[in-house]
Amino acid sequence: MYQVKSRVIKNEEVAEGYFRLSLECPEVAEKAGPGQFVMLRVGNSYDPLLRRPFSIHRINKWSGIEILYKVIGKGTGMMAHIKAGEGASVIGSLGNGFSFTEELGEALVVGGGIGAAPLLALAEKLTGKGIGEERKVIVFLGGKSKEDILCVEEFKEIGAEVQIATDDGSLGHKGFVTELLERYLGQPQGTAPTRIFSCGPHLMSKRVAEIAKKYNTPCQVSLEAHMACGVGACLGCVIKVKGSGVRGQF
Ligand SMILES: Cc1cc2nc3c(=O)[nH]c(=O)nc-3n(C[C@H](O)[C@H](O)[C@H](O)COP(=O)(O)OP(=O)(O)OC[C@H]3O[C@@H](n4cnc5c(N)ncnc54)[C@H](O)[C@@H]3O)c2cc1C
Ligand code: FES
Repeated sequence: MYQVKSRVIKNEEVAEGYFRLSLECPEVAEKAGPGQFVMLRVGNSYDPLLRRPFSIHRINKWSGIEILYKVIGKGTGMMAHIKAGEGASVIGSLGNGFSFTEELGEALVVGGGIGAAPLLALAEKLTGKGIGEERKVIVFLGGKSKEDILCVEEFKEIGAEVQIATDDGSLGHKGFVTELLERYLGQPQGTAPTRIFSCGPHLMSKRVAEIAKKYNTPCQVSLEAHMACGVGACLGCVIKVKGSGVRGQF
């Protein structure tokens, strides 16, 4: 884990209220894995006092990381105004992250809203970008409306199949993204080892875990909580989980 003074390479609005921030921090990127996160402070002010946690959206081992964020309050509001060349302080990479082995034949990746953010780095690793691996990757994206469906082209570009659901039916299936997952798993399945990976609102994660259990498919769920330190010191982010097969960001 490093604390580094990073430089902003780019900060662009990719959809209304959603931004992608590219940060130069090769030290963090070198050790980062999909599903991990960083604690970030932009500008020189200590208001807000606490750093904000953000999933690592993309990893470029030679230059740095990208973050995909939604503007919801003071910290993210300040981030939206930061320009290329300005500084940002990054602590990372933190958290357990997702894991899988080479034998994995099929990955079902489920994202709800901004929960799609860490799933691009995961899908890039799963599709074996750059190392010529072959693996079926289906990304199920859900959101309230079409504006909340993020990174469709990016997922397709790396060879993932994308299925979409929106609450209001403005894009893809009208209903919950978990309905798409269940519909897929309800079809006759091949013999390839399959695993589900998920990040999104807690209710969605709970439903994904129930579906995984019903179809006897291993599942990893990335859980988010309000955070203060981000490094396991204050225990403010602890989320109770049942059994030992599921783990949160810590
Ligand atoms: C491990 C982790 C990874 C995250 N990854 C991302 C990411 O990739 N992209 C992204 O956009 N956001 C992500 N978040 C959420 C992000 O940290 C918050 O949106 C951010 O801290 C809000 O800061 P703010 O100062 O703008 O809002 P504040 O002014 O602090 O809060 C505004 C409102 O949002 C609520 N809020 C703040 N944080 C959270 C939270 N974690 N969950 C639910 N409600 C919250 C507050 O209660 C308040 O009502 C992640 C959170 C965690 C814990
Ligand atoms: S925020 Fe998780 S232990 Fe402090």
